[in-house]
Amino acid sequence: MDVKVRNLIKDEVVQMVDWTADEGWNPGLHDAEAFYATDPDGFYGCFDEKGMAGCYSLVRYEGDMAFAGCYVVRPDLRGGGVGRLLLNDVLARAQRYNLGIDGVLQMVPKYERSGFIRSHENARFRGVGEGEMPEDLHIIEELSIEELEEFDSRFFGCKRGTFLEAFVDQPGTVGLVSMVGDKVNGYGLMRKCRQGRKVGPLFADDATSARKLLSGLFSLAFGEDVFLDAPMVNRDAVSMAQEFKMEPVFRTARMYTKNIPRLPWERVYGITTFELG
Ligand SMILES: CC(C)(COP(=O)(O)OP(=O)(O)OC[C@H]1O[C@@H](n2cnc3c(N)ncnc32)[C@H](O)[C@@H]1OP(=O)(O)O)[C@@H](O)C(=O)NCCC(=O)NCCS
Repeated sequence: MDVKVRNLIKDEVVQMVDWTADEGWNPGLHDAEAFYATDPDGFYGCFDEKGMAGCYSLVRYEGDMAFAGCYVVRPDLRGGGVGRLLLNDVLARAQRYNLGIDGVLQMVPKYERSGFIRSHENARFRGVGEGEMPEDLHIIEELSIEELEEFDSRFFGCKRGTFLEAFVDQPGTVGLVSMVGDKVNGYGLMRKCRQGRKVGPLFADDATSARKLLSGLFSLAFGEDVFLDAPMVNRDAVSMAQEFKMEPVFRTARMYTKNIPRLPWERVYGITTFELG
């Protein structure tokens, strides 16, 4: 096998996202395009005579923030060392960054041995869209990308305008904003996925706005599966999911290589993605 790890081209990123779907991670229908637009140099893989043998994403943000995901080895090669090769590769490339991941729980001890520190768990909740649109919400298109980026960065930890623009522009994505006077105090996006729709991010300064935003998004997915990936350190996010009759279906561990960033998790009601942070 050619053990060289190289950047993936766009079609290979599409294949990578298909592989994450095969793992049951239910990616968005247009995630490959949005991910690739965020950082065309942020996707890696190694190859053998049958094609892609394994892959991962490593998206670098401002400062020392980076996030890795989409870590998959082709099923016929598993257990043969390709995963170790890719893990060593991502750690070497991300050496100067505080690298974040959302790891599946069974891999956590292995990531700890590789130097990752455990922060908290995220839970994926599943519910069914219902209800009516609350009256005083705004649509995301009313905000400029600069306003959105500014508000979002207070929760995400850095500015990510390129990602947000690509993510909001995905066909079928809807976004709602909650305001107090002329000030934004929460927003939520929901995109179409292989199965149903996924809410993320869902950031809000208070519990009432978070619930109002989720109600609005639920009303736009009437009768469809709706998923929300909530940080379990935010107990109110877990309560909110229960109030919306959502059931936990999957968990990940958020981990970092250098330190646990001081983010306002108590106001994060839904993370953006398990793949790009
Ligand atoms: C996880 C995955 C990428 C590892 O790739 P791989 O080629 O099978 O792994 P390797 O043969 O190189 O083994 C690498 C190490 O991971 C461990 N490992 C592999 N799969 C594991 C699993 N499912 N649970 C726990 N440990 C596992 C191996 O024991 C080995 O540990 P060591 O280096 O300390 O000896 C691969 O199994 C896969 O694609 N799984 C499905 C997708 C997935 O779960 N990805 C992880 C998302 S966080």
